[in-house]
Amino acid sequence: MLPALHIFGISITLIWLIYKLVITPAFFSPLSKLPAAHWSSHLSARWFDRKCATAGELKTLYATHQRLGPIVRLGPNEVSVVSEEGLKKVYTAGLDKSNWYDSFRVYGVQNLVCTLDHKTHSAVRKTIAGLYSKSFLQHSEALDGLSERIVVVGLLPSISRGGCGMQGMDVVKLFECVGVDFITGYVFGATIGTDFLNDQTGRDRYFDEWERLRETPGLTEKPITESLFMDMCKAAVTSGKASVAAKMHQELSSKAMQWNLSEEKIMTRCASEMVDHIIATQETNTVTLTYILYRLSQHPEYQEQLRDELHDSNSHIPNREDRPSPNPADIDTLPLLHAIVTETLRLHAANPARMRRVSPPAGLDLHGVFIPPATILSTNAYCLHRNPDVFPKPFDWLPERWLASSDDKTDASGTPTMRRWFWAFGSGSRGCVGREFAVQIIKLVVAAIYEKYTTVIVDEDGIEQSDSYNSGPISHKLVLRFVPVLEAGELVPDLLLAQSPRKTTSNVLL
Ligand code: HEM
Repeated sequence: MLPALHIFGISITLIWLIYKLVITPAFFSPLSKLPAAHWSSHLSARWFDRKCATAGELKTLYATHQRLGPIVRLGPNEVSVVSEEGLKKVYTAGLDKSNWYDSFRVYGVQNLVCTLDHKTHSAVRKTIAGLYSKSFLQHSEALDGLSERIVVVGLLPSISRGGCGMQGMDVVKLFECVGVDFITGYVFGATIGTDFLNDQTGRDRYFDEWERLRETPGLTEKPITESLFMDMCKAAVTSGKASVAAKMHQELSSKAMQWNLSEEKIMTRCASEMVDHIIATQETNTVTLTYILYRLSQHPEYQEQLRDELHDSNSHIPNREDRPSPNPADIDTLPLLHAIVTETLRLHAANPARMRRVSPPAGLDLHGVFIPPATILSTNAYCLHRNPDVFPKPFDWLPERWLASSDDKTDASGTPTMRRWFWAFGSGSRGCVGREFAVQIIKLVVAAIYEKYTTVIVDEDGIEQSDSYNSGPISHKLVLRFVPVLEAGELVPDLLLAQSPRKTTSNVLL
């Protein structure tokens, strides 16, 4: 055994450890120039992690930035930045993701969200980006047919069956079905995707597994989900028909040699990508639609204005399959609908938490401080969306902030500054690939519902957003009653609009 070296009785190893773990991060690291979330954050992320565990990550980040400004050290190697400069230098510049995203693997293999390095990511993203572009989606006959089936044959009859009684219906479950039916119909093809709005056995089996995942900390396996979508992916690829899955499979096959992929690996990787899109839609579209309906239910005056906007446009949603659905491009241009969707995404971003990136090998300069290589950098929509200089009264739901016209506003979508700070979909090359898909569907569903119904809150217990990456209501439910609109502009008698008894523990779903 080697004798331990000592200086004045203190072991060299101990001195070296103190130098490395205390002196360097606290005094010599360039990050020591940044304000720290807590004095100990220069040495350890423990304070921040514990505070997040007790007070919540989003509230802790918000309070910390309020106190210390746009850039803060959270730990020896982690920095949070909430500023336009941060957005530009971290996200527009396309820094690699941190390995925090590994948990997004499906079937144990990576997909777009968790591909960390830039090169592989952009090769895969290029394959499917076109299939999610606004112009493609607005002219897609396949998506048109799917929209008609889901909205006219699935959603509206489900509401009419289950949502009009005094007990109301849980819209979270309703929108989860809408989301999964839409995205599986789109990525695999309408005849292969799910029909959860009408298939009770299928949806119960599938969502029971998700409920178990929510209620069992540490449980991550999803055998029902994985096998259902693997079967659908294989069916889509072998059907010979055009679909997102078929396109992805074809592209991966062309890279098989280069990426050393066997036929089995190609299929698994392809299915992993598709499940990623499915889960993204299931979680985020549901959260957004739920809070749109929640806010509109609190503000009947907006429901009425929205109905007027829909009636004045070419955007009538048919009651029956044999009537043509409105052109998605027409719905897209409705200013109030757009403002309602955008403001809900601002106040209730479905993914409001930190989006972690890694500083490049050369480091970078941020707010006048050198950020060394391999530092974890992040910003978050929660803080960006609550900057009172950009969004006055930031905690209020005010769709009109996206409408008001003044010298400051260039068009009906807010000021350029508001648009730069709006970050519900992230930004840059890792921003949401499904953004246009999400917005098209959300607008269609909201238009379909409010043309035909007025909504009233029955049970909003636990509507506060959870402090997690996917941030839905903590109760995972919102019960609303749907009151049919009899004719254009004319509502059913006041009696029917009377408040339903609140907090009923309704189990009525679809
Ligand atoms: C309201 C709905 C949605 C919201 C709020 C949302 C939000 C986001 C955000 C914030 C990111 C960036 C994540 C990061 O930087 O780490 C993202 C990425 C992504 N989203 Fe969405 N999303 C929505 C809908 C969808 C839909 C419908 C799809 C289906 C295709 C989708 C697929 C993806 C994928 C694949 C990525 C990763 C992109 C990449 O790394 O290149 N999202 N989304």
